[in-house]
Amino acid sequence: MKTEKCLIAVAFITTQAWAQAQNTKEMRKSAEQKTEAKMAADLKQGVTFAEATLAPKSGSKVQGSVIFSRMQNGMQVLASITGGTPGKHGIHIHEKGDCSAADAASAGAHFNPTGAPHAGPEAHARHVGDLGNITVKEDGVGLLSLDVPIVNGFTNWDSIIGKSVVVHAKVDDEKSQPAGASGDRIACGVIQAAKAKST
Ligand code: CU
Ligand code: ZN
Repeated sequence: MKTEKCLIAVAFITTQAWAQAQNTKEMRKSAEQKTEAKMAADLKQGVTFAEATLAPKSGSKVQGSVIFSRMQNGMQVLASITGGTPGKHGIHIHEKGDCSAADAASAGAHFNPTGAPHAGPEAHARHVGDLGNITVKEDGVGLLSLDVPIVNGFTNWDSIIGKSVVVHAKVDDEKSQPAGASGDRIACGVIQAAKAKST
């Protein structure tokens, strides 16, 4: 009789414990699903949608790559170059996706769909293509990570596909018109839709 009661008690406790464990498991599973959904959403926001490969121009040795990702309120630009001279170099999105000229003059002016003046990437009124400067270190390597917010109400980031990215010999002073007095065009690459799009 004692053993029977004891067994029932043990069975009860075990069932309770099992039920509780299942509950915890369910809760954990749902939390995991929520995290997964959030991660997927975040990934969608940060998804790389365009890229450019920069080739040397105007007799330089500068080459590199640029990737563009969608962010919640704008886009993120990640650029890396090699073979540069130490210091700051203007970098912009230019309005024509044509890097064929030896001096990259074929890339045209800065991409400026809103008809704003030239400025730096922090300014409210500026060319959509104004990415400011990329800083090259002693080893010739330059890196730029820039968050570009909505510019003058412009949000049609996909329209940069088919334009180009140009790196310049000199610093962009972010005020001289029409292009920041940044000198020769030393690298150029056409912006293309990213090959590997995550869904
Ligand atoms: Cu430029
Ligand atoms: Zn500009």
